[in-house]
Parts: sequence; structure tokens; C-alpha cells
Amino acid sequence: MAARLDGQFELVCGTFSRDPAKSRAGGAASGIDAARSYGSHTSMLAAESKRADGMQAIVIVTPNDSHFAIAKAALEAGCHVLIDKPVTRTHAEALALREVVLRTRRVFGITYTYSGYSIVREARAICLSGRIGAIRKVVVEYTQGWLSGRAETQGSVQAAWRVDPQRAGSGGCIGDIGVHALHLLEFVSGLRVARLRADLSTVLPGRQLDDDCTVIVRLENGAPGLIHASQIATGERNELRLRVFGEAGGLAWSQDAPDRLELRWIDRPTEILYAGRDGKGLGPATRAAARLPVGHPEGFIEALANLYLEFAHEVRRGSDGADRQDDNRLLPGIDEGIRGMRFIEAAVESSRQADRWTQL
Ligand SMILES: NC(=O)c1ccc[n+]([C@@H]2O[C@H](COP(=O)([O-])OP(=O)(O)OC[C@H]3O[C@@H](n4cnc5c(N)ncnc54)[C@H](O)[C@@H]3O)[C@@H](O)[C@H]2O)c1
Repeated sequence: MAARLDGQFELVCGTFSRDPAKSRAGGAASGIDAARSYGSHTSMLAAESKRADGMQAIVIVTPNDSHFAIAKAALEAGCHVLIDKPVTRTHAEALALREVVLRTRRVFGITYTYSGYSIVREARAICLSGRIGAIRKVVVEYTQGWLSGRAETQGSVQAAWRVDPQRAGSGGCIGDIGVHALHLLEFVSGLRVARLRADLSTVLPGRQLDDDCTVIVRLENGAPGLIHASQIATGERNELRLRVFGEAGGLAWSQDAPDRLELRWIDRPTEILYAGRDGKGLGPATRAAARLPVGHPEGFIEALANLYLEFAHEVRRGSDGADRQDDNRLLPGIDEGIRGMRFIEAAVESSRQADRWTQL
């Protein structure tokens, strides 16, 4: 849906399941020719590379354990890659993938969805402009309640692989939603997390991975921060909240009202900015990233679509590795993927060593 929103992509083929019959059924549901619905990414890449009208880009939305193999094969087959987070199952795989991205010089993007909201980009622009002054503290909370019960044994395919270290990686909640929080924190503040102290818990006995995380961080400018992520926060849906406190003002955003940003000043009343093509007080890039006038809220699909659109622009420009060095690039790339993987492994390491401070 997000890929199609701006008319930049046509879905021409796919591996919709590892079972060839299910893949054909999945493809048919999306209007794909049965001959182009494959049972594996290897057969898809081999067949498509022989066609004059073969696929040019791939979207990888499988569980984490297959990300590396599919991304590497696709890049080496000449495809541009847009992949879901976390970029791979391990940090070592992410480092190896970076080498493939640089060698093949294909466009590579990661769907850290929340950085696609236009008002989140305004928050970033405000932090980078210095309007709220030096950043003193950042807090990101990402809480869900869907793993409060034993969803993994009650038929939820999504839960089953997420609690399995062989498929998800060494992080449970920290790898699934903690990485989104880290990316949002660094994307908006423009500051990197230098070190962290993590307390990861497995609240439901018997699970092999964490389902609740409290991570105290120290940013590169010395400011303290907090990432709180939980999937056993009973009753929570998908609550994502960001607060940035600067010496002159603070920012507050919540996905509950995704088109609204509060600017809380130290010496004057709070301002509220709303996303929109004509949004008052917004920078040109923020207005351009919105599709409708203010009062018509943008949502998750539009945020994701902004990432697809930037990916499409880069493919059309024929850009390569040079873009990844560009500080103005908003589409997350392999370096953000590597940071996410390092964050997961550093948090696991810190928590195992009784919350010890660990460098990122
Ligand atoms: N960016 C976001 O906001 C966001 C949101 C949800 C999930 N994700 C990420 O997306 C990925 C998928 O998560 P999900 O919840 O959609 O999982 P899911 O289990 O609902 O879907 C995964 C699909 O991949 C298929 N599959 C598995 N292995 C395959 C293979 N080798 N080749 C082809 N198809 C294969 C499965 O049949 C299934 O249809 C994960 O990496 C997850 O972290 C990102």
C-alpha cells in the first residue's frame, strides 16, 4: 500500500511464501502473474534477471533471520533494496552487508517507519537548527501490550518468530521495537547515543528473549536519555512517544496524534504545530513531505510511503554510494542499520553484566 501510494512502483513479482503453492496464491491476491510468484528468493532472482522487464528493486519484509541472505543475493543480482528493521539478525551480518552495499553500489534503505512522518522531520529540523538550544535530555517510550499473554503459543505467527532467538536474533522487545526508539531518538535529536546501561527483563517466565526494556543512555554531547520499550505493557496498543528537552524549549510528539508537535518554551506559551502542505510555521521540507492541507491527519501508511518515495527518487537519480555520505539524506541506510544492531547487542551485553555501562 505504501509503495503504491505515490505511483512510483509496480509490484511485478514476489516470493510471497517459501511454499510455492502459497506463494502463487499470495501473488494472485495481489494480481501477480502465477509465473512470477516464486517459492524462493533465489529462484525469483535467477528468473527475473533473465527477463528484459525483470524486477529492479526488492522489498524485504520477512522475519529477521532471512534478511541478510536475501539482501545480499538481491544486491549482487543488481537490485536496489528496501528492507525492514532490524536490518539483519546479528551485528556481524550487518557489517558484512555494508560491504556488499558499498561494493554493489545499489540504493539501500531501511524502513524505520516513524522517521517518515512529516512532523517528525520538523522536530528533527527544529533540533538541528538550535531553536530549542543545546539538548539536555531525550526520552523515547515505545510500549505495546500484545505479548502480555502467550500469543506465541496461541496461533500468532508474528509472536512465534519474535520470541525465538534463532529467528529474531539476540534481542526480543529490544530488537523489535527498541531499535525504532533508538533510531527516532538519534534521527530527531541529531545526536548519537555514546553509551548505555540496559535492564532487559523476561517478564513472562520461559521466554528466551526479553519482553521489557529500560535503557539509560548517555548521548555524545553528554546529555542523559532514556529508552523505555515494552511488549508486556498490558492494554497498550502501539504507543510511541518522544520528548526532547533543550535549554530554551522542549518538543513533544506522540504517534497517537501523529500530525501534531508541541513546542514547549521556557519563557512563553506552548506552540502547537500541525503537519500539512500549508502547515503554519513549518519548514519547506516538512510541508513537501505532507500530502494534504492541515486538518487531514497523516498516518502510518503515509509515513512509510515517504520512505518509499525517497527510495524511488534515489533509484531514478541513479544514485549510488555517494548518497550515503550525504548528511541530508533522510532515508535510513546501512549505517543506521548497523547502529540498530549494535544497540541491540550492547543492550543485551549490558543487561547480562548487571546493567554495566556499555559503549555503542
Ligand atoms: N517498519 C516497521 O514499522 C515494521 C513493522 C512490523 C514488522 N517489521 C519487520 O518486518 C519483518 C516482518 O515482520 P512481520 O510482522 O510482517 O512478519 P510476518 O510473520 O507477519 O510476515 C513474514 C512473512 O514472510 C514470509 N517469509 C518467511 N520467510 C520467507 C522467505 N525466506 N522468503 C519469502 N517469504 C518468507 C512469511 O511466510 C510471512 O508471510 C520483520 O523484520 C519485522 O521486524 C517492521
